[in-house]
Amino acid sequence: MSKAFYVTTPIYYVNDVPHIGHAYTTVACDVLARYKRARGYEVFFLTGTDEHGQKVEKAALAQGETPLQLADRVMKRFQGLWEKLNISNDDFIRTTQERHIHGVQEMFELLQKKGDIYLGEYEDWYCTPCETFWTETQLLNGCCPDCGRPTEKLREASYFFRMSKYQDALLEYIDAHPDFIQPLSRRNEILGFIKEGLRDLSISRTSFSWGIPVPNDPKHVVYVWFDALTNYITALSYPSNSTGNFSKFWPVDVHVIGKDILRFHAVYWPTFLLAAGLPLPKKVFAHGWWTVEGKKMSKSLRNTVEPNMLVDKYGVDPIRYFLLREVPFGLDGDFSHTGLIHRINSDLANDLGNLVSRSSAMVNKYFDGILPEGVSDKEVDKAFIAAFTEALPVIDNHICNLAFNKALQSIWELVTRANKYIDERQPWALAKDPALKGELGAVLYNVTEGIRLIALLVAPFMPETGRRMLAIVGADPENIMLEGHDSFGELRPGVTVEKAQPLFPRI
Ligand code: ME8
Ligand code: MG
Repeated sequence: MSKAFYVTTPIYYVNDVPHIGHAYTTVACDVLARYKRARGYEVFFLTGTDEHGQKVEKAALAQGETPLQLADRVMKRFQGLWEKLNISNDDFIRTTQERHIHGVQEMFELLQKKGDIYLGEYEDWYCTPCETFWTETQLLNGCCPDCGRPTEKLREASYFFRMSKYQDALLEYIDAHPDFIQPLSRRNEILGFIKEGLRDLSISRTSFSWGIPVPNDPKHVVYVWFDALTNYITALSYPSNSTGNFSKFWPVDVHVIGKDILRFHAVYWPTFLLAAGLPLPKKVFAHGWWTVEGKKMSKSLRNTVEPNMLVDKYGVDPIRYFLLREVPFGLDGDFSHTGLIHRINSDLANDLGNLVSRSSAMVNKYFDGILPEGVSDKEVDKAFIAAFTEALPVIDNHICNLAFNKALQSIWELVTRANKYIDERQPWALAKDPALKGELGAVLYNVTEGIRLIALLVAPFMPETGRRMLAIVGADPENIMLEGHDSFGELRPGVTVEKAQPLFPRI
């Protein structure tokens, strides 16, 4: 049986156009998906758009469009950006798709049949930007405790989900699965929230109509978060859950989200699943928040960090690299152009770029571009090879724990190691003595093979760069599998090594 791996991004609201925050989550999931594929897993990587709800309805109205026109237009911008960022998602779900609507209605009816949904009246406050219900006591100066914006008083008939009933079961699950909510600080936050007591959750609205009709009571539309969270299983063909993708990929390996929507993923969603009798996610990882040049991202600031513009200016791979290298996943970070340029010049152009160009230049200079044989029993050469063998499991562990910055740090230690090895072994000095031709060959073989392994490790983060590096060292650029190809010495002597142009121009 093949190993399966399921990773999701949030489905993004279509009232806003994509910005680096959305790009961040999606690139992180893409790295994980690509890495797992390279490790031989059958991967399902899902992203999509959240197209219902009052917020989207309002935005459409303000722009003189129907909600569906707005959704059609904006979802294309998300899809276009994902193509441009080289995102390898296996599916793209829209909550307006029939497959999703059907699945949400089935889920709603199932919970109703189980007695976990009842009709009542909601009389409290609502924050439309967050699409969240609040009680009077939860408000801060009348405003939403999450985003600080004004709330509105609602009084309407509503279906309620018996969330309170699942409080203990959820606490037990969290207790029994220490890795369920990550990072740890977030887990504690959620535990605190649950222990204050879960109240039943309003899961339908009657005061607007842009949503999925409640089965048998179409005056109501399903609450947008009940609708949205269910995407994670409707994309696997739920309610058909005994076969196909659902049985293969559920429970999900990791829902990657921003810390803004953790409560929905770590409290609401698991209780819906408990009620439906379905397994809970293995992991929910809430990453941190990006600011731009020290400020909260605003419409005007976004112009200067619009992802399409950044990619046009700096290239896809440097942007992907920067987002995951700059900030530990889980912590907040700041986007600055100086930081980006520094990373490109120092890590990419200097460290990695130089390694590739100087090594390939030497194979061309001393061996006419034909990779020499690499036999040596010198300690210094063996130590170099050992550095790679030792780093592989460390890097694997970091990526599987979503510690992307640490993984990149470890990969760059290999880059630095390879540059240092060249300085230690001084091929230019060995080349002066014809008797040392064999030793020179071994050194250049080792460096070139090191570059092949670095290329495979870099490929999930920077797919084009990885392929480019493989082509330079004479490996198959289409074979980016790590599994079965990660032991030192696979590259065959006799292949042609290109004299490489710089991988990354200095800025
Ligand atoms: O919340 N820094 O959609 P959304 C880091 N539709 N990440 C950021 C960010 C920032 N400044 N801004 C946005 C919704 N994000 C719901 C989700 S899921 C069933 C439904 C990223 O368009 C981050 O992943 O508001 C965050 O959680 C998400 O975009 C919110 O996207
Ligand atoms: Mg949001």
